[in-house]
Amino acid sequence: GRHLIGIEGLSASEISGLLDLAEEFVELNRQIEKKRTTLRGRTQINLFFEASTRTQSSFEIAGKRLGADVMNMSVASSSVKKGETLIDTAITLNAMHPDILVVRHHASGAVALLARKVDCCVVNAGDGAHEHPTQALLDALTIRRNKGTIQGLTVAICGDVLHSRVARSNILLLNTLGAKVRVVAPSTLLPSGIETMGAEVFRTMEAGLDGADIVMMLRLQRERMAGSFIPSVKEYFHYFGLDEAKLRRAAPDALVMHPGPMNRGVEIDSAIADGAQSLIREQVEMGVAVRMAVLDILARKLPNA
Ligand code: CP
Repeated sequence: GRHLIGIEGLSASEISGLLDLAEEFVELNRQIEKKRTTLRGRTQINLFFEASTRTQSSFEIAGKRLGADVMNMSVASSSVKKGETLIDTAITLNAMHPDILVVRHHASGAVALLARKVDCCVVNAGDGAHEHPTQALLDALTIRRNKGTIQGLTVAICGDVLHSRVARSNILLLNTLGAKVRVVAPSTLLPSGIETMGAEVFRTMEAGLDGADIVMMLRLQRERMAGSFIPSVKEYFHYFGLDEAKLRRAAPDALVMHPGPMNRGVEIDSAIADGAQSLIREQVEMGVAVRMAVLDILARKLPNA
């Protein structure tokens, strides 16, 4: 379709095609001259109702490298603060004829709802605990470049699965490309029915990491926890934080990922985050390339493209 709301509904060949295109942008981004004209004359608005470092900046850089005029809507100083709704905000911006809207919102389903109200292409930059499709795509590109393939790999997604749109998008994508997906979490941080999405459930790191090729850590999303989901941060790190001893359970050539932002010493030991097995900085680099590929593909669907 005209939008990218989630990984759900994408085929293996669509995902692989997008990753192949992103590979070209990885090369372009390492050149001195990084600009293309694909989106010349087009307007991209980034509308982020939640905080972001990686996603917002990489979508801005991606749009600009493809030649678009990119506007970052400052929600904090917008009329949302005066009570204007999400939909009225979207309809207002739509009247300015943007071509692409990149949206992050704290409510699951908010981006799909907004997409039905506007004429332009909409890209989901993360909606509540639902999906974060470009994160899963950049993770897949990072894995593919380091392991050669995704098919047949064992990927352990660990930590706060309950609140994680990153986990959901990754489970969908990794299953589509033939990986064996595990989730490792305490019962309080596991959504019910996660097995039906195609993930094998483990309740200890020792069992869940056993022989894993990829260890993907998730941020403990304390801003979404009203009650007591964990006994204490110290105990959480003891049982579920990735440290050297737990990582030794994984395959000898296992690689470590984290979508960021990291809570060092909460879900991951600092030495592991910065260690030889960590792909965390490469994930950020792949983020720009993947977002350029997404925008490039959407550009072909714009009127008069
Ligand atoms: N991984 C990710 O979405 O990071 P930001 O929240 O900084 O965009």
